[in-house]
Amino acid sequence: MKFEITSITRLTDTVFEMTLRGDCSAFKMPGQFVEISIPGLYLRRPISVCDIEGNRLTLVFKTVGKGTEAMAEMTPGTEIDLLTGLGKGFDTTRCNETALLAGGGVGVPPLYLLARKLIADGKKVKVALGFNTADEIFYADKFRELGADVEVATVDGSAGVKGFVTDAIRKPEMQGWDFWYACGPLPMLSALGRELDCENGEVSMEERMGCGFGACMGCTIETPWGPKRVCKDGPVFDAILMKDFKGNGTPAPTLPRDRKLEGDEPKVATELCGFQLKNPIVPASGTFGFGQEFSEIYDLNILGGISIKGTTLNPRFGNITPRIAETPDGMINSVGLQNPGAKEVYSHEVPELRKIYSGCVVANVSGFSIEEYVEACRMADACEGVDIIEVNVSCPNVHNGGMAFGTSAQQAAEVTHAVKAAVKKPVFIKLSPNVTDIVSIAKACEEAGADGITLINTLLGMRININTGSPVIANRMGGFSGPAVFPVAVRMVYQVAQAVKIPVMGCGGVSTAEDVVEMMMAGASAVQVGSANLVDPLACKKIADDLPKLLKKLKINNIKDIIGISWRKM
Ligand SMILES: Cc1cc2nc3c(=O)[nH]c(=O)nc-3n(C[C@H](O)[C@H](O)[C@H](O)COP(=O)(O)OP(=O)(O)OC[C@H]3O[C@@H](n4cnc5c(N)ncnc54)[C@H](O)[C@@H]3O)c2cc1C
Ligand SMILES: Cc1cc2nc3c(=O)[nH]c(=O)nc-3n(C[C@H](O)[C@H](O)[C@H](O)COP(=O)(O)O)c2cc1C
Ligand code: FES
Repeated sequence: MKFEITSITRLTDTVFEMTLRGDCSAFKMPGQFVEISIPGLYLRRPISVCDIEGNRLTLVFKTVGKGTEAMAEMTPGTEIDLLTGLGKGFDTTRCNETALLAGGGVGVPPLYLLARKLIADGKKVKVALGFNTADEIFYADKFRELGADVEVATVDGSAGVKGFVTDAIRKPEMQGWDFWYACGPLPMLSALGRELDCENGEVSMEERMGCGFGACMGCTIETPWGPKRVCKDGPVFDAILMKDFKGNGTPAPTLPRDRKLEGDEPKVATELCGFQLKNPIVPASGTFGFGQEFSEIYDLNILGGISIKGTTLNPRFGNITPRIAETPDGMINSVGLQNPGAKEVYSHEVPELRKIYSGCVVANVSGFSIEEYVEACRMADACEGVDIIEVNVSCPNVHNGGMAFGTSAQQAAEVTHAVKAAVKKPVFIKLSPNVTDIVSIAKACEEAGADGITLINTLLGMRININTGSPVIANRMGGFSGPAVFPVAVRMVYQVAQAVKIPVMGCGGVSTAEDVVEMMMAGASAVQVGSANLVDPLACKKIADDLPKLLKKLKINNIKDIIGISWRKM
């Protein structure tokens, strides 16, 4: 359903009121919500209806992430797509004479339409609102204008009662009601459930949603009436739900809540097998050439490391074209390891790179037999400019080699063993995600002597041209990469980093400083950036610029502290 934004007003630092014009006939009860489609985001975002008058809809939202931030930037006149009339709202008929309404933070907006309806039905309304500070208060006066008695609580005591909504409802002015309604964070609802009579109330629940209309089962919670979908069977439920409510599964934060920034600049340096990297950012092999193209755009020395183009013993032309296809949020390539061969790379390309780059140089090596891997790695080992050898047992674009070694724990271990016996420099094995058990392969490489693991290489993918019926890529299939593969990469880094003692270089879909932090929290000691370089040649520079700012915002003093924080015991 199309709605046109008619106004957008900032109510507090982070809370906005948006009014829209459109068909509001699907809304039947206060407490229902809309699902907003936000350009560029895959899932819609649920927002409660704050008010409806004729064809005018009011939403109030707090900026907490990409979606709500994009909403705050929208301007009057913009048309947006909403799913309307969603969910089961508050039942105003359950209140006989006087209602107590309790709301916290962004739980306040749906109570406004509820208050208006109750007052229009001739009922008395008492409203207790909870905020963190006086600066965050909104809508208290609007409830008063409706004729409701209003009490405000602030956690820091800067306005109204010091404390929580539960403190506000204890005020004498808030006594004498026959039914209560509440909306707010779960701890607030649980506290109200303990404080008030659960038989005479309704609570509005919040849950992460997929569809918002009952199709995906993404929002199901345990209730006394069996499993219920918050979006369809709720979000408003009888307050009996709060009796012994076990809560949802939101994991407890592992970053200390009371963390403080020490000094001006967070530390972004990291380490790989004794090499100090000024930051964890390493352009991924095959997406950065030998660095020369990028050195014309920025000083490569801002990078922690560089993984150069995959090199085979002998020169290779690679696969026939077309070698590239586009995918939603990614790409497929079938370059097929085009490279000038080990002799040229280690006698010319690396020395040329060394003239302009002093960070960690990672030589990425591929082969078609164990002997070829060993020979090419020996040459990389002998090359002065190379710091780390990255053995690619995961290229999906060549026959008789590449991925074949990386999809068998035994063969991956054999390559590792043979290479390790031939070289002195640290060896990382770059693994393929096209396997069912990545952990067993990583462990086999570690046992065979690997000094580190890089993962992931590309996923095997394919596109077909619907006009011709033919595969888009001449080689039919190719390696799928880009932001779309990021969650697969994070999952595999998370699994492998826990299972091995050697460092992991995370790779796959990284395109922002946020992605780097997430990958490191999964367990990566350094993070490779691949396809993003092809879309924006400045991608790595932007990430390097953004990373310290992001750490500052997250109050992380030293990036090394977050490696594996998602599973590590603090
Ligand atoms: C039925 C319902 C009604 C809602 N009504 C309102 C409203 O009236 N006003 C309002 O400001 N917000 C409301 N929300 C919450 C709102 O949907 C989320 O804040 C929003 O989807 C976040 O999107 P984002 O892209 O900005 O943040 P994201 O980048 O998706 O997430 C940012 C942060 O917000 C948290 N978050 C995201 N979605 C939810 C969610 N559904 N529940 C709890 N935490 C979440 C995430 O854990 C994360 O920490 C409602 C949610 C539901 C389920
Ligand atoms: C065009 C292209 C060429 C690639 N060539 C190589 C290569 O020679 N050696 C290698 O190990 N990986 C190669 N890769 C894989 C990347 O290094 C990286 O592992 C993969 O693309 C996932 O990261 P991304 O999603 O950030 O691109 C290549 C990827 C692309 C897109
Ligand atoms: S969000 Fe899909 S069923 Fe509730």
